[in-house]
Amino acid sequence: MSIQLDNVSKTYYLKGRTVEALKPTSLSVQTGEIYGLIGYSGAGKSTLLRLINLLEQPSSGTVTVGDDNLTEMSAKDLRIRRQKIGMIFQQFNLIESKTVYENIEFVLKASKYDKKDVPARIEELLNLVGLNDKSNISASNLSGGQKQRVGIARALANNPDILLCDEATSALDPDTTKSILNLLKSINKSLGLTIVIITHEMEVIKEIADRVGVMSAGEIVESGETYELFSHPKAEITKDFVQEIYNFEVPEQITESSENQIITIQFLSENAEENYLNQLYRDFDLDISILNGRIEYIKDQPLGFLMFQVSGETEEISRLKTHIDETNGIERVGYIG
Ligand SMILES: Nc1ncnc2c1ncn2[C@@H]1O[C@H](COP(=O)(O)OP(=O)(O)O)[C@@H](O)[C@H]1O
Ligand SMILES: [Mg+2]
Repeated sequence: MSIQLDNVSKTYYLKGRTVEALKPTSLSVQTGEIYGLIGYSGAGKSTLLRLINLLEQPSSGTVTVGDDNLTEMSAKDLRIRRQKIGMIFQQFNLIESKTVYENIEFVLKASKYDKKDVPARIEELLNLVGLNDKSNISASNLSGGQKQRVGIARALANNPDILLCDEATSALDPDTTKSILNLLKSINKSLGLTIVIITHEMEVIKEIADRVGVMSAGEIVESGETYELFSHPKAEITKDFVQEIYNFEVPEQITESSENQIITIQFLSENAEENYLNQLYRDFDLDISILNGRIEYIKDQPLGFLMFQVSGETEEISRLKTHIDETNGIERVGYIG
């Protein structure tokens, strides 16, 4: 199911003060897509997400889901429509004193799911999220990852076509985060579910998003296909987020020395690095030493980074830079010196 936001905005009024949480924003998410929104705390991510299912009323603009203009719906129609938009949260939002089974049953009862079909539906959902053996365990006795699996089962109970995820993995350790992201990827595929995921973690975007929007101060400042955004960030804030992933610290004694130049290049394909380096050693009369390097996988597509230090004749260094700039699939992303 597609999502279309046209010029939606949200201003909060608090004790005579106004907070423009979301400036007029337009966004379309395609059916079956995983769309990521990244930004620091306070950027307006949760506000935007809650406008999609109208948990917040927009101050202006329209929200369209599939063929339905949600902003024009009556409260009653909206309540029913919202059952087809699942949502999961950082804090899981479970009823801690109840069992896994009861937690899911609660959602089905609230939506007046046919009573006789409830047990089978719960079993199906528990299978889907990998918790078949946890049905009678109290939610309070589950690990964080298991709690989020129950959260996902609850969100999927009424066969939604959209799943909204608000920092769904932010309370989880890295391994559990991976397993929850894998579950989300698999239900995205198997159910054709459209997913919007908001996060402050680049690792999450890198792992799962088809496209991404970067939010800052109530605006989407940059957006695009995930690999493109990682390899060619434009806004300063996007560069900061990308930097988080490859995080190359330059040793201080090196930046202080004026004779050396530090060059960082990126490779847009796999296995190119070693050959290219050999070529540089061979064709240039320079001292080249590697400071750092790594390959990241952006949704399984490799993106390599290599940072090295060169010293030698100025002209020879210029010739090297020109060579890098003219080689396809290799780009200079920065240099110091
Ligand atoms: N209910 C509210 N009342 C007043 N201000 C709010 C409310 N919800 C969010 N805000 C403000 O709106 C801005 C964006 O918040 P939010 O959407 O939660 O950002 P994020 O999810 O990116 O951290 C923040 O300045 C926040 O304080
Ligand atoms: Mg938030």
